[in-house]
Amino acid sequence: MQTLSLTGANGVSDILIETGLLARAGAAILDTFSPSRVHIVTDSTVAPLYLEKLEGQLSLPVSHTVIPAGEEHKRLTTVETIYHDMLAAGMTRKDLVIALGGGVVGDITGFAAATFLRGVSLCQIPTTLLAQVDSSVGGKTGVDLAEGKNLVGAFYQPRLVLIDPAVLATLPNATFADGMAEVVKYGYIANKDILDMVSQPDYKAHIEDIIYECVKIKRDVVAIDEHDTGLRMILNFGHTIGHAAEKLGNYTDLTHGQAVAIGMVAAMRLSALLGNDDLTAPLVSILQHIGLPTELNYDREAIYTALLSDKKKFGGVVNFILVREPGRAEITPIEAEKLHKYILKL
Ligand code: NAD
Ligand code: GLY
Repeated sequence: MQTLSLTGANGVSDILIETGLLARAGAAILDTFSPSRVHIVTDSTVAPLYLEKLEGQLSLPVSHTVIPAGEEHKRLTTVETIYHDMLAAGMTRKDLVIALGGGVVGDITGFAAATFLRGVSLCQIPTTLLAQVDSSVGGKTGVDLAEGKNLVGAFYQPRLVLIDPAVLATLPNATFADGMAEVVKYGYIANKDILDMVSQPDYKAHIEDIIYECVKIKRDVVAIDEHDTGLRMILNFGHTIGHAAEKLGNYTDLTHGQAVAIGMVAAMRLSALLGNDDLTAPLVSILQHIGLPTELNYDREAIYTALLSDKKKFGGVVNFILVREPGRAEITPIEAEKLHKYILKL
């Protein structure tokens, strides 16, 4: 078992990573928490696969909420359903909430845990690659509004994160590839060894070690900038143009990972336009090896407009994440007018 711990403003999160860990999750949970009861939140795809397996290991009263799978359910009405279920089950502030699922379940459940009775203990059991390397660690929780994604939320750290790479076996290939976009992002921003690992033909056989390296980076970044006021922005490499593309595709044409992949390639091209070495070709080759798209097929003017409405723009300046050498990211403020010129050339 590989372990990491993250010390945040409100205590420590222990992160355990091991293939097969879900079968031993009950013991790990009861080693850390002493609740009188547990409420598990999962979704309609994950529930038939793993809910019974988890519930069967908890030798105390357990209740659950199964939400419909999908980003469109990451909203306040779903959180309200979870509150009602927890009250009906008799959950108190001393009890434990478990998120069993991908990033959607993790974000909603984290927000419910942060706000129910002003805060109850939280354990994250991420079941997608994206959730394992990214969303389950670092304490960002929240829901979407009609006006945009993740507009309501809280920083709320899970006390325990249990990562079992074996559950990835049931993921559709495209959902696995989505998570790989974030893996490639970690390689470019902080550890180029990850790029060597994912370039191997049998990289999936080494996914546990790849996850560990990614989570270590996320842990280190969040430990320095838990509340996202500076360094944590480097985790947005590929996300600035990626979010704009996702928006232009009405959040249906591209998955998040596909948008991030395209956004990273665009960010590399932009870096070359700024006079840096052109690192686009090796990035394109890694993304193609994984099965992710690389071409930005949207009108550049529309991309610029969508990008300007993104929350990362402050006072006419966009904080762009650039990689001038693999393994090192830089937060580069670019004036909006200058950026416009470069985006048109992408
Ligand atoms: P998701 O939670 O929608 O999961 C994708 C699909 O896979 C769903 O249909 C789900 O039911 C299914 N699934 C999950 N685990 C499975 C398994 N083991 N086997 C088979 N199917 C499985 O999507 P996601 O990509 O995990 O997460 C995306 C969400 O994460 C977005 O809402 C995004 O905003 C959020 N996010 C949050 C953070 C953060 O720091 N909190 C970071 C990145 C992304
Ligand atoms: N996924 C970006 C962050 O956690 O800050």
